[in-house]
Amino acid sequence: MFIPKAIALASLSAAALLVGCRSEQVSFRHNIRPVLAHNCAVCHSPGGIGYEMTGFSVQSYATLMKGSHFGPLVIPGSSQQSDLIWLLRHRASPAMSMPKMCERLARGDGKCAVASEHARMLPVSQVNMIARWIDQGARDN
Ligand code: HEC
Repeated sequence: MFIPKAIALASLSAAALLVGCRSEQVSFRHNIRPVLAHNCAVCHSPGGIGYEMTGFSVQSYATLMKGSHFGPLVIPGSSQQSDLIWLLRHRASPAMSMPKMCERLARGDGKCAVASEHARMLPVSQVNMIARWIDQGARDN
């Protein structure tokens, strides 16, 4: 009877560790902003094609929370209801997945093509981190 108890205890502490990891606070300033600045700002700030077409800018916490011309993209406390996460996970049509590749856009001005050289899909771990930040309340922390 001693061994099963030990196993039960071990799995309990493993569960505690997992919970500990999940509840670690994600920081907008340290974790989120650099990812958006590096991968999205080239198009999603004034002068960029993503901003021109949708009004969505990742320049600051305020503009991120404001969303696009079509409404907010981040719903604090619910990554499931946040269109930003929906789009980043490509649940919408492929044509809507972000970062947007310019070949899909019939625009010949070259600006988008230059910008898209910097574009790449976010790795799942980074999308999950953004989702976690939203679930923790999407605070300006
Ligand atoms: C190469 C330029 C480019 C990059 C890089 C890019 N986007 Fe976009 N984004 C666009 C364009 C263009 C649109 C408009 C697409 C359309 O309407 O078909 C768009 C649309 C969006 C929308 C939809 C807004 C709305 O309400 O319709 C979201 C959300 C978005 N982008 C988020 C991001 C995020 C987050 C990143 C970084 C991971 C990113 N984008 C990187 C060009 C880009």
